[in-house]
Amino acid sequence: MNKRVAIVGWRGMVGSVLVDRMREEQLFSHIDPVFCSTSQAGAPAPDLGIDLPPLADAYDVSTLCDTDIVVSCQGGDYSTRMHEEVRKAGYRGAWIDAASALRMRNDSVIVLDPVNQPVMDRARAAGVVDYIGGNCTVSLLLMAIGGLFRQQWVEWVSTMTYQAASGAGARQMRELIAQMDHLSAACRATLKDPGASALDLERTLSAALRGEAMPTEALGHPLAASLLPWIDRGVEHGATREEWKGHVECNKILGNDPEIPVDGICVRVGSMRCHAQAVTIKLRQDVPLDEIEHVLHESTPWTRIVPNTREATLEKLTPAAVSGTLDIPVGRIHKLRMGPEYLGLFTVGDQLLWGAAEPLLRTLQWLL
Ligand code: HSE
Repeated sequence: MNKRVAIVGWRGMVGSVLVDRMREEQLFSHIDPVFCSTSQAGAPAPDLGIDLPPLADAYDVSTLCDTDIVVSCQGGDYSTRMHEEVRKAGYRGAWIDAASALRMRNDSVIVLDPVNQPVMDRARAAGVVDYIGGNCTVSLLLMAIGGLFRQQWVEWVSTMTYQAASGAGARQMRELIAQMDHLSAACRATLKDPGASALDLERTLSAALRGEAMPTEALGHPLAASLLPWIDRGVEHGATREEWKGHVECNKILGNDPEIPVDGICVRVGSMRCHAQAVTIKLRQDVPLDEIEHVLHESTPWTRIVPNTREATLEKLTPAAVSGTLDIPVGRIHKLRMGPEYLGLFTVGDQLLWGAAEPLLRTLQWLL
């Protein structure tokens, strides 16, 4: 018999990428989906070319309890509230979640099966029923360099991120384009003037960037033609919560004991949906580069080594090349001047696919 799967938050960005992937993987032939809504219960379900009952009420405990699996991309407030309510009501089905709210609880596991299938297997065998997707930057980093951890070569990792607007949200993505549009309109006349210099153009652009009319309601500040070196709220030691997640989530995903330090600075840039990271790794020993590349290549079936040449790097190791794909390219791989145990590399990944929807999709497939 098909399992009944409640799907909440399917209209949002991560949710809609997840539903698209579920269709591509033909998962809807193997489940009885119960599409839920927090605001439009009773309205027609999305048109997937299959017979579906009207939308169920996402806040109705008995509706959720009447399913085998809940998949939520609705956000942390919803997860905190409804997860507690259904568990209190005795629900023992699986709860698969994209939000961070339940991620660091002792009784949940962070799912990233190409990297931590053994951790997931142990958790399931021990009766864990809360399967939570990791932070996008963390999941993408581990998809790239998980193999190095598996070899126990890593003493510490420092990662400097270049995070896409999609990580901030859908409104922020739209606003980034509105900002580009505003700047391009402000510069159009100067750009067309053959007598205007590059510095004239820059002055026109900077005036528009700092001007009152620059749209900044969602992002808070100009992102187009600039960057924002602060993501989420501040935590202790001068770090941000996004940076804190790097350490705690990497270690939880890998089941590390003792923990391996992972730290860096997280920066929002003007790419649309691909996060990139410049990574410094302190190895425990001097491992030859060809062995490192081999192990990185084996990290996951999606991890791709990009030769450290100008042509290959600029063709394959950019958000423009990777957006919308499941590829995890790793390039610029070389030893740093600090010594033969210091490894530098660069990686890019789609923040909505491996960074969010894909680990949830695969957890659902695994549980089915
Ligand atoms: N927190 C991430 C970001 C996205 O702001 O880019 C979700 O993991």
